[in-house]
Amino acid sequence: MREDIKEILFTEEQIIEKVKELGAQISKDYKGEDLLVVGILKGSVIFASELAKNITIPCELDFMAVSSYGKASESSGVVRILKDLDNHVEGKNILIVEDIVDTGLTLSYLLKYLEDRGAKSIEIVSLLNKEARRKANIDVKYLGFNVPDEFIVGYGIDYAEKYRNLPYIGILKREVYEKNK
Ligand code: IMP
Ligand code: MG
Repeated sequence: MREDIKEILFTEEQIIEKVKELGAQISKDYKGEDLLVVGILKGSVIFASELAKNITIPCELDFMAVSSYGKASESSGVVRILKDLDNHVEGKNILIVEDIVDTGLTLSYLLKYLEDRGAKSIEIVSLLNKEARRKANIDVKYLGFNVPDEFIVGYGIDYAEKYRNLPYIGILKREVYEKNK
């Protein structure tokens, strides 16, 4: 797999260090409040797990699955809910855990969806932010790292379902996805 990676952006150690900081800040901000942590499958699963271990206040952990890129590398803007939350949303403080915010279209849909279901508050924590391609105005309260406008993989983030198991975050070589276009 390493031969398909152009450049390693963040090592496992750097990510773990950053997630510790995010967990500490979140634990501080929600102290004395209820908290429902919502990981967006599948990309955020490794990040959400690491983050959950670093949240030191009581919280619930749930997951949602939404349709995303599939095999292509462009967002369609169409969001479908493939797996909904098991927990009730009404009156809860929700923290959405995302792997990467790109156009922001997925999150803008999810924010509206959870708002309509009566959440008390909704904030976003994202491991990565690809600001260059933003189309929707999204307020990411807790952010790990900014990334360049490249195809990113690793630490849960895939290309055509592969590379999620890389322990680091890297840039996928262009020729890997160009040949499948
Ligand atoms: P958005 O709706 O354009 O913000 O994209 C949201 C989703 O697209 C993310 O949660 C990722 O699953 C996926 N995505 C965006 N950029 C990348 C990337 O560089 N590599 C892999 N997946 C990506
Ligand atoms: Mg995602």
